[in-house]
Amino acid sequence: MTSSPTSQSTPAALPPSVFTLPQTAQLEALYTIIRDRTTSRGDFLFYSDRVIRLLVEEGLNHLPVIPKTVETPTGGKYEGVGFEGKICGVSILRAGEAMEAGLREVCRSVRIGKILIQRDEETAQPKLFYSKFPEDIAQRYVLLLDPMLATGGSAIKAVEVLKEHGVPEERIIFINLMAAPEGLRRFCSNFPALRVITGWIDKGLNEKAYIVPGLGDFGERRYCE
Ligand code: URA
Repeated sequence: MTSSPTSQSTPAALPPSVFTLPQTAQLEALYTIIRDRTTSRGDFLFYSDRVIRLLVEEGLNHLPVIPKTVETPTGGKYEGVGFEGKICGVSILRAGEAMEAGLREVCRSVRIGKILIQRDEETAQPKLFYSKFPEDIAQRYVLLLDPMLATGGSAIKAVEVLKEHGVPEERIIFINLMAAPEGLRRFCSNFPALRVITGWIDKGLNEKAYIVPGLGDFGERRYCE
């Protein structure tokens, strides 16, 4: 019997801005289910949602808090903390949309923006096709949602667009289900002050830029029978 994850988990030297979920046996079991090519769409939805929920909760741990005192029903005072500042989510379409429900589960009326980036056929570079953000996004903390960080191209473009809209790197938290080390390093060297929360860092990329061993095409696993 093995109760803790093994050599397959996180590689040693990570940029200091990267935070992985605790690599527990439970988490490894969840990833084993979603990686398995025989897992049904229903189970893929259920178990990827479980990991997404953990990721969102971890992301919220990185938001600043300020002292807050409340009175309890006993009449006693409790000197606690409250969240400081407003947040919003921004999902990178289309896979990032799958993470919106997980964010709404824990932040009930959270505003969520969207951004669509695709490869420009002429330049082969990531290109912005569409974006819609809350009008006051520059004043908010942004939870940027994208489950798969492969080469990092789309995520880098998305952050550039957010910065053009006045959001400083320090106020962006990237929430990611699975990353390839090369994409992660590229992303972090572009934005050293931006925090990345990822669930698992895999071995690398194959020749088609899929994460390996990975879980395949996240969008297809999630949306297609
Ligand atoms: N997007 C996916 O859905 N899967 C990968 O492995 C890489 C990018």
